[in-house]
Amino acid sequence: MTKQASLKVEDKEVTFPVMEGTLGPDVIDIRTLLKETGTFTFDPGFTSTASCESKITFIDGDKGQLYYRGYPIEQLAENSDYLETCYLLIYGELPTEAQHKEFVETITKHTMVHEQLTWFFRGFRRDAHPMAMMTGVVGALAAFYQDSLDINNPDHRRVAEYRMISKIPTIAAMCYRYSIGAPFVFPRNDLSYTANFMNMMFSTPCEEYKPNPVLVKALDRIFILHADHEQNASTSTVRLAGSSGTNPFAAIAAGIACLWGPAHGGANEAVLKMLDEIGSVEHVAEFMEGVKERKYRLMGFGHRVYKNMDPRAKIMKQTCDEVLNELGLHDDPKFKLAMALEKIALEDPYFVERKLYPNVDFYSGIVLSALGIPVSMFTVIFALARTVGWISHWHEMIADPLYKIGRPRQLYTGSVRRDYVPEAQR
Ligand code: CMC
Repeated sequence: MTKQASLKVEDKEVTFPVMEGTLGPDVIDIRTLLKETGTFTFDPGFTSTASCESKITFIDGDKGQLYYRGYPIEQLAENSDYLETCYLLIYGELPTEAQHKEFVETITKHTMVHEQLTWFFRGFRRDAHPMAMMTGVVGALAAFYQDSLDINNPDHRRVAEYRMISKIPTIAAMCYRYSIGAPFVFPRNDLSYTANFMNMMFSTPCEEYKPNPVLVKALDRIFILHADHEQNASTSTVRLAGSSGTNPFAAIAAGIACLWGPAHGGANEAVLKMLDEIGSVEHVAEFMEGVKERKYRLMGFGHRVYKNMDPRAKIMKQTCDEVLNELGLHDDPKFKLAMALEKIALEDPYFVERKLYPNVDFYSGIVLSALGIPVSMFTVIFALARTVGWISHWHEMIADPLYKIGRPRQLYTGSVRRDYVPEAQR
C-alpha cells in the first residue's frame, strides 16, 4: 500500500500521497493542498521543502555522503577526471572509452570564444571584480550564440550546454587576465581541460608554460568536488530562472550571480579574508570569542545540509597537503593559522553542539592560493566547476513533463487595504 500523510486544517482532514525516492527522506506531495484547504505551507529558506524531483546528485548531510549519479564523491575524486565527471552528470552514466574520447574532443574544439567577445570585455573597468565580469559576460553569451537559444529544440539545448562547458574556462581566465592588464591567451588543444585553464591563466607570450601535473591534478579535483551539489541556492536559482523559459546562458548567469554571495560560493574568498584579518595564531582565541558572541561567523564552517564533516572537505584537506608538499609550503603561516582555527572549532562546545564542521571552502581557498590563483578569482573557479551542475539540472528540468514556471507564494503581513492620502494631509 502506498504511504499517505494526513493533515487537519480546522475541521477538515485531508490526506496526501507520500512519495519515496531511491535514497533520502520521503516527501509529502502537497500539490493539492491549496485546492483542498485554501492554505499554503510556510517554509522560508526551504528547510523542509523538496522543490523538484531529481536523479542527479544525492546528499546525506547527517552521514556526510555525497553521490553524483550514485557514485560516491571520494571514488570520483580518486579515479575520475573533471570532464568524465561532467559527462556522468549530464548523461547519467560513466562514458565508454569511445564516448569519453568524443566528449573530450568536442569540448576541446569549442574552447575559443567569439572574437567580438574580447571587445565586450573592454567595457569593464580594469579593477572590476572578476565575478562581476563573469555575470555580465556569461549573460551576454546569448547575444553571441543566437543559434542555440531555442530551449524547445534538443539540438539547441545540447549545443548551448557544450558551449558553456567549453568556453567558461576561457572566459574565467579572460576575467583574470583583463583585471591584471595581461593579454588574453588562446586555448591550447594539446592540454587537458584543467591544464589548458592554468595555461590561459598563467602563461605569457614570452615563454612556454609547462603545467605542473601535481597542481593540475589538484585543480582538477577542486573542479570535481564543486561540480554539483543538488538543490543549493545557485542551482535552485538556475532552475527558477530557467523555469520561465529564458535561454540557458541567461539562466546560468543568474546562477553565477547567486553563487557570488559569501554564504555560498563567496565563502572561499571570505575564508582567506578572515585569515588575513586574524593575522596570526596568537589572535585565534580572541577571534573565536567574537564568533561565539555572534559578532561574525567563522567562514568555511557550517552547512545547511551537512551536520557532519562535509565529505568534500576531507578530500580537500588531503589535496591541500599534497599541494603544500609539492610546493614546499607546509610552513605557510595561513595554513598553520587555518589548522589552529580548525582544531579549536572542532573541540569547542559552541561548534560541537551546533554540528558545525569545516566545509569544502575552508580548505579550497588555501589550495587555490598555493596554486597562485588570486583571492578575487576563487568564486570564479567555483562557478567554472559548477557550470556543469547547473546545466545538468537545467536540462533535467526542461525535459521533465511536470515542468512548470516556479512561482512560490507568501504569507502577507503588510497593511490591509487603505485609501490613498493626499500629500498635504499626511
Ligand atoms: N560560524 C558561527 N556560527 C555559525 C556558523 C558559522 N560559520 N554557521 C552557523 N552558525 C550557527 C548559527 O549562529 C546558528 O546558531 P543558533 O542556533 O544559536 O542561532 C546555528 O549555527 C545554525 O545556523 P543557521 O544559520 O541556522 O544555519 P544555516 O543552515 O541557515 O546556514 C550556512 C548555513 C552555510 C549559511 C552557515 O553555516 C554559514 O553562514 N557558514 C559560513 C559561510 C560558509 O562557509 N558558507 C559556505 C557553505 S559551503 C559552500 C556551498 O556549498 O555553497
